[in-house]
Amino acid sequence: MNFELKTFDLSSAAIEKCDALIVLLGQSFKPADDVLSTLVAQALKAKDLETKAGKTLILYRANGLACTRAVLAGIGDGSAKDVRQAVSAAVSAVKSSNVKKVLICFAALPDAQALRAALVGVAEASYVFTTTKSKPEGRVIQRVVVGVPDAPTFKPVFDRAVAAVAGIEFAKEWANRPANHATPTLLAGAAQSLAKLANITCEVLGPKEVAKLGMGSFMAVAQGSDEPLRFIVLRYEGANKSHAPTVLVGKGITFDSGGISIKAAAEMDEMKFDMSGAASVLGVFRALAELKPAINVVGLIPACENLPSGRAIKPGDVVTSMSGQTIEILNTDAEGRLVLCDALTYAERFKPRAVVDIATLTGACVVALGAVRSGLFSNNEELAAALLAAGESSQDLCWRMPLDDDYAEGLKTSFADVANVAGRTGGAISAAKFLQRFATKYSWAHLDIAGTAWKSGTAKGATGRPVALLLDYLLAAPASHK
Ligand code: BES
Ligand code: MN
Ligand code: ZN
Repeated sequence: MNFELKTFDLSSAAIEKCDALIVLLGQSFKPADDVLSTLVAQALKAKDLETKAGKTLILYRANGLACTRAVLAGIGDGSAKDVRQAVSAAVSAVKSSNVKKVLICFAALPDAQALRAALVGVAEASYVFTTTKSKPEGRVIQRVVVGVPDAPTFKPVFDRAVAAVAGIEFAKEWANRPANHATPTLLAGAAQSLAKLANITCEVLGPKEVAKLGMGSFMAVAQGSDEPLRFIVLRYEGANKSHAPTVLVGKGITFDSGGISIKAAAEMDEMKFDMSGAASVLGVFRALAELKPAINVVGLIPACENLPSGRAIKPGDVVTSMSGQTIEILNTDAEGRLVLCDALTYAERFKPRAVVDIATLTGACVVALGAVRSGLFSNNEELAAALLAAGESSQDLCWRMPLDDDYAEGLKTSFADVANVAGRTGGAISAAKFLQRFATKYSWAHLDIAGTAWKSGTAKGATGRPVALLLDYLLAAPASHK
C-alpha cells in the first residue's frame, strides 16, 4: 500500500478523482458553503449521520463529487482511538468493492496521534494474509492519499506513521505464517533480508556457536526438535558507536507444543504465534530502516521449536544457563523464559542503555489483562514510565505489573539455583521474576504480549503489537535509564 500526504480542504477533496473518499468529521464540524459541507450538514440535520466514532454514511456518485463513493465518517472527539475506529469502519464499508485509490480527508486539523491512527486504521482494516494461499487475492486498496489542511507541518508525523505501518505489517506477515513456513531458519532469513536495508546488519548463530557460548538453557528447549535453532543478532546503527544501544529481545518460539508437558489439542495451532515477540523486533527494524533515526538498536532473537521427542527435555531435568545459573525444568511448557534468559545474558556484552524483552510468555497474563493491554514489568522506574507513555502515544497500550521478591518464592527448588515454574497463581509475575534474575546488569523491562499479539476466533491473526509502542519508545527515548 502506498501512502501520500497532501493538502486538502473539503472543497478540493470534492473534485479529487478517487474510488472512495473518506471524510472524517468531528463533533465540532462547522460547514462552509462547499458541496461536501452542504451534504454533511444536511445528513447531520436529518440524523442520517452522526459524528460519533464508527458511524458512517455512504454516498454513491453524488452530485458535485468527483469520487465514485464517499464515506462520511464520524470521528467523535477526534482522539486517536476514535479516528482509528472511524477509519476502520469506513474502510470496512467499502473494501469489498473495487476500491483502489482512497482519499482520507480530515475536515478539521487533526493532532499528530490522530493522523497516525488514520494510517494504522486503513492498513489494519484492509490487511490480507496471502502467503499460503494458492490463488492469492491481496488487498484491493493500493493508494491512500491522506488529506490535511496543512500538509507540510504534518510531514514528520506522517513519515513516522508510514514507517510504523511498514513495521507492523512486517511483524504481522511473519507472525501469521504457519510454523512450517516460519521455521527458525526461515525467520533468520527474514532478519537477513532486513540487513539489505539502511544501517542494518545481521548475524545468525547456529547450534555450534550457541553451544560455544554456553547457552545451555536455550539449547535444552531446542533439542526436542529436528529443526536447528537460530540465534539472530540484528544491529541498527544510526548513531556513533559510542552511543549505548537499546537491546530488544524477542521470544522466537516458532511453534510451542508444550514439549513433554504437552498442551491440549484445542487451539494449539495458535502456538505458531509464539514467535510474535521476535516478529515485533523484526518489524521495529523494518521501520527503523525507513526512518533512519540517530540511535543504536540491537535485536536479539532466540529462535527454535518446542516439541516432544525422544531427545526432548523432561520435567525434572536440570540445565546450566549461559549466566552459570542452573535451572530445574519442572514444566517443559514454560520454555519462553528458558530461551530468553540466555539472550538476556548475551545482551550484557552490548553495555546497553536498556534492554526490553518482548514475549508471548504466559497464559496468566491473558487472564490478567486480556487483549487490551500488554503486561509491563521493569526494574527501572524511568524505563517503565517511558514504555507506558509510548504505549499511550501509539495507542498500543501496556500496564505496569509488580515485581515484589515475594512473587519469586515459588521458584525455589532443592535441585537447582531456580525452577522454571512457580505455583498456579500470579503466573505472569513469577515468569517475570524468573527473567529478572538474568537481567541484573542493566535497566530492563519485559513486555508480556500473550494477550495482545494476536486475535483468536474468526478474526484470527497477528496484530503487529507492540511494534508501534516500541517505535515510539525508541524515538522518544532520552540518553539512558541508569
Ligand atoms: N507460549 C505460552 C504462553 C501462552 C499461552 C501465550 C496461551 C498465549 C496463550 C508459554 O510458553 C506457556 O506455555 N506458558 C505456560 C507457563 C506455565 C507452564 C507456567 C502457560 O502460560 O500456561
Ligand atoms: Mn509454552
Ligand atoms: Zn511459549
